[in-house]
Amino acid sequence: MKPVSVGIIGCGNISGIYLKNLSGLFGNVRLVACADIDFSRAQAKVDEKDEAGNRLYPDLKAMRVDGLLADPEIRIVVNLTIPAAHYEVAKKILEAGKCAYNEKPLTLSREQGKELLALAKEKGLLIGGAPDTFLGAGIQTARKLIEDGWIGRPVSATAFMCCHGHESWHPAPEFYYQPGGGPMFDMGPYYLTALVNLLGTVKSVAGMTSRAFDERICTSANRNGDILPVDVETSVAGLMRFASGAVGTIITSFDVWGHNLPLIEVHGTSGSLSVPDPNGFGGPVKLKRPGQDWKEIPLSHNYAENSRGLGVADMARALTDGKNARASGELAYHVLDIMHAFHDSSDSGAFFELQSSCQIPEPLEGDLFRF
Ligand SMILES: NC(=O)c1ccc[n+]([C@@H]2O[C@H](COP(=O)([O-])OP(=O)(O)OC[C@H]3O[C@@H](n4cnc5c(N)ncnc54)[C@H](O)[C@@H]3O)[C@@H](O)[C@H]2O)c1
Repeated sequence: MKPVSVGIIGCGNISGIYLKNLSGLFGNVRLVACADIDFSRAQAKVDEKDEAGNRLYPDLKAMRVDGLLADPEIRIVVNLTIPAAHYEVAKKILEAGKCAYNEKPLTLSREQGKELLALAKEKGLLIGGAPDTFLGAGIQTARKLIEDGWIGRPVSATAFMCCHGHESWHPAPEFYYQPGGGPMFDMGPYYLTALVNLLGTVKSVAGMTSRAFDERICTSANRNGDILPVDVETSVAGLMRFASGAVGTIITSFDVWGHNLPLIEVHGTSGSLSVPDPNGFGGPVKLKRPGQDWKEIPLSHNYAENSRGLGVADMARALTDGKNARASGELAYHVLDIMHAFHDSSDSGAFFELQSSCQIPEPLEGDLFRF
């Protein structure tokens, strides 16, 4: 079958791995063009060369954003702009009659997210987005262990993402401290998408938030000494009740210098599972059964390497076979709703009942998209 043509809008820090994977890792998509509000950034990607001086992506065109959106060949556009631009850019993509795949978070507000989902539905297009790490070998193996009954009925889960923010390395870190950033909206999507995939949808939450600094000092190479105003909460603690009855807790923080906390654990009536970093695709997955030591379990699924773009390949698969895309808009919206709900609960001091839900994506079997 002819690969689905894909374009990228937003040629910044994360675009490199998407360019690489969408150009070579998946046989059912073909990256044909990239664009950026700053055209020179798109041109720089097209001009990238390997050690022998050959262009890395010989078939890739640099385009203006409007030109890319008008290109009839392109069916999926991957939106790698900053969070504040996700809504506006995705809306343009859908209005141009193309499917939209957004980096996380889906949008800044729930209203924007709902509007995009409705627009996609009205136009018969797909919308979805990152993270797609839950389709990797690590989380898929953990899910299979749960579904095969190795920990019994899941009862509780913990998730911790603690670091000191991204201003020590990112060349343009402002957006991490503006709405759509902060540790929950930036990193929460990896952890919450994994938890929803493992335990099902979330029904109600409670949250508490704090902010250690009103401004941060940048230490990344090109911005050393720059002051970044902080407009978001930088430590967010959340409690979740899943629709299944299981309970969970999550802490995300950009105010932590070091810690010894596990990333994700799921505890069931007859075992405990240590789930690998949901910001990656591989392992290790570890299982503890009553009376036994922790054991590392071999990965049962494919895509253990950095496979960012797997969700795009899956969206292309959904376009051709008509079934649901796994990294769907409904899933991304449910995660957005949970993240807002933690903040709403913190503001009100009350539990927050979620209005959203989503289908749990089908497990990813086999090696569907490899060349
Ligand atoms: N950097 C990472 O490690 C990383 C990892 C995973 C996900 N993400 C997500 O990817 C997205 C991009 O992050 P990044 O680090 O590459 O940011 P970045 O600032 O390095 O790049 C963003 C690019 O988008 C362009 N842009 C901004 N507004 C635009 C618009 N309206 N139209 C067209 N282009 C526009 C900018 O010119 C820039 O080139 C964010 O949503 C972020 O959460 C980043």
